[in-house]
Amino acid sequence: ETLPPHVLVLFGATGDLAARKLFPGLYRLAAAGRLPEEYAVVGSGRHSPGTDDEFRDQVREGLVETVGDDLDDDVAADLLRRTSFQTSDADDGSDLAEAVRQAEDDLGGADADVLRLVYLSVPPAAMEPMIAMLGREGLTERARLVVEKPFGLDLDSSRSLDAALKDVVEEDQVFRIDHFLGKEAVQNILALRFANGLFEPAWDNRSIASVQIDVPEELRMEGRGSFYESTGCLRDMVSTHLSQLLGFVALEDPRELTEQAVRDAKSAVFEALEPLDASRVVYGQYDGYRDEDDVDDDSDVETFVALEMRVDNDRWRGVPFHLRTGKALAETRRTITLRFKDPGSGLLHSGGDGGDEPNELVLELTDDPIITIDVRAKRPGPELTLTEARFHLDLADDVPDTPENKPLEAYERLLLDAMRGDQTFFTRADEVDRLWQVIQPLLDDRPEVHPYEPGSWGPQAAIDLPDGGWRLR
Ligand code: BG6
Repeated sequence: ETLPPHVLVLFGATGDLAARKLFPGLYRLAAAGRLPEEYAVVGSGRHSPGTDDEFRDQVREGLVETVGDDLDDDVAADLLRRTSFQTSDADDGSDLAEAVRQAEDDLGGADADVLRLVYLSVPPAAMEPMIAMLGREGLTERARLVVEKPFGLDLDSSRSLDAALKDVVEEDQVFRIDHFLGKEAVQNILALRFANGLFEPAWDNRSIASVQIDVPEELRMEGRGSFYESTGCLRDMVSTHLSQLLGFVALEDPRELTEQAVRDAKSAVFEALEPLDASRVVYGQYDGYRDEDDVDDDSDVETFVALEMRVDNDRWRGVPFHLRTGKALAETRRTITLRFKDPGSGLLHSGGDGGDEPNELVLELTDDPIITIDVRAKRPGPELTLTEARFHLDLADDVPDTPENKPLEAYERLLLDAMRGDQTFFTRADEVDRLWQVIQPLLDDRPEVHPYEPGSWGPQAAIDLPDGGWRLR
């Protein structure tokens, strides 16, 4: 596959995301020969990191830190050679526009049909004015815009952001990124469900009692205090990543792997979400959060959310989906658990000495997907009594470890998809709008924020949310 020439414009190029994910993603694509033959990267931001060479040194340091000893110096040098920096802000993007045109000329100019990939890794408040600037400067022509979450801060501001986008580009130019959708293990949910006869027939309310989407994190603010103060856990994780996971778990068979089919199917799930029941929502804040850098002394921002969602359609009516995530928790995991109902047979009663636990299908969304299924089996011995047993699948063990089978990191994949113009794993305006509608009541009437101990599983009030407790505990 050869991609057309590209100029990549990275706003927020000196920020955390660029250093940890975007440049490493580009580097990996370059190392695998997946970038266009002709491309240039123009970093941008309000503050200059110094000369181009100083910027390149800074990017290189980031690569050394993230890629480590495997860093191929030639590949890195080639990427850096194509990389430059130009300051810009929402009021004035003329120098940037000039730099982009210059880069295009260097790639062959008008005849080369150079495409632009504009990556907006900027805070919510800066997003709209930046988009207007791109329009004014003509930078939206031949461009795809990658927009980072949280896509506004509430329903109104997200609609206004959307209107700002529609003023300057078409929806097929907008790539709203939710990097969870770029994870191997998340895309594997579709493979598991729709390529196997084993699971799909049991994938509904006749068989499934409840679903848990659980993404606890040990990490704390790590310098992101001011971002977090204006965002909070609900917007940072729940209305974005966790809801998107719910979408993949719950969607109807899209029948084909097209952007329209997959996103229609996911969108239908969000349409069917019931209004949240405020008594089934728990907010928490870890002790010590207020002492973090750039955090208010009496901040009320939630660093933990657990809540129940319900999908009101024939497949899922009656099945609670429990979502939980937070910072400074006991473990870092990304786990989806489907808890199955009892088959209701009188044949085997658990004798109380094993076999009490329900069947659970557990998807660990790690780099190499891991799937376990907890089942009941006959305990060896003279009596037909039960014990617990487990199927365990680690995809890394089953797939030969060849360069072609190397998993792509989420940002790496999504940058590639965006350059290909494939929106399948990006979120669409209607999905985002619907998710804001669902959570807006929590913004209007904030739940009480319970304190919790760092290293715990969150506030006590959240522990009992699912019947039978959380899988992770
Ligand atoms: C980001 C959130 O989008 O996702 C972070 O802003 C969170 O708060 C991160 O830690 C988790 O991503 P991953 O890929 O490490 O699971």
